[in-house]
Amino acid sequence: MKVIAFNTSPRMKKSNTAVIMNPFLDGMKEAGADVELFYVHKLNIAPCLGCFNCWLRTPGKCAQQDDMDIILPKMKEADVVVYGTPIYCYTMSAQMKTLIDRMVCIADPFIEIRDGRSRHLAPEGSKESLVVLVANCGLWEIENFNALMVNMEEVNTPPTKFVGALLRPHGEALKVMLEMGEPVDDVIEAARDAGRQLINNGEISPETLNIISRELIPQDVYVDMANQQFREVKEKHEHSKG
Ligand SMILES: Cc1cc2nc3c(=O)[nH]c(=O)nc-3n(C[C@H](O)[C@H](O)[C@H](O)COP(=O)(O)O)c2cc1C
Repeated sequence: MKVIAFNTSPRMKKSNTAVIMNPFLDGMKEAGADVELFYVHKLNIAPCLGCFNCWLRTPGKCAQQDDMDIILPKMKEADVVVYGTPIYCYTMSAQMKTLIDRMVCIADPFIEIRDGRSRHLAPEGSKESLVVLVANCGLWEIENFNALMVNMEEVNTPPTKFVGALLRPHGEALKVMLEMGEPVDDVIEAARDAGRQLINNGEISPETLNIISRELIPQDVYVDMANQQFREVKEKHEHSKG
């Protein structure tokens, strides 16, 4: 199985996204998948120009030449696509949005009515790929992923199939707790197990996803800690300015 994965956090290897995404990808590799990971922030991918050349004048070919020339052939080959993103303003990162917009290039312009909704046709000869989201956010509640989840469901019509999401609310806490030796190994192990399950069964159990999203610390404690840290960093900065 071919897996193409995108970590779209600008913090790349140091991101909280990576803390969940890396064991997830490791689990897939353990189950025998061939995994290729891209840090999208490092790639040169310009926003879509909306010219529709790729649909109407040069089918499948974008008017812009950039690193999407590398990504698009791999997307067509992939059995599984993994998008990793921090929540920015209640949705995906700009890097992820740019990437998804540019994939319009391999969609079919023609529209049909399916189950009462007008949708683009699946491109001829395209294979169904499974799509998984890995997302983390700074605020405490899982509801901070609601808008993104709706977006992922809507954007992934055939030939892609959205099979689920590894969601890590109060994601800022996980790395800190790992570094402090707090008991959060079950979350990392669940992410790894999710990778194995996806490759072996084509799905991830709700129980495993619940462990990944589980409460790490109570809401009020998290809010106090975050505010305390903001205060300390701001004060340090003010002192250093003299
Ligand atoms: C521009 C910006 C917007 C953000 N918006 C939200 C938000 O709407 N909700 C939230 O819970 N966290 C928000 N955050 C916090 C990030 O989701 C959080 O810091 C996350 O852990 C970053 O993940 P990363 O290290 O993988 O980039 C925002 C951060 C930035 C920089």
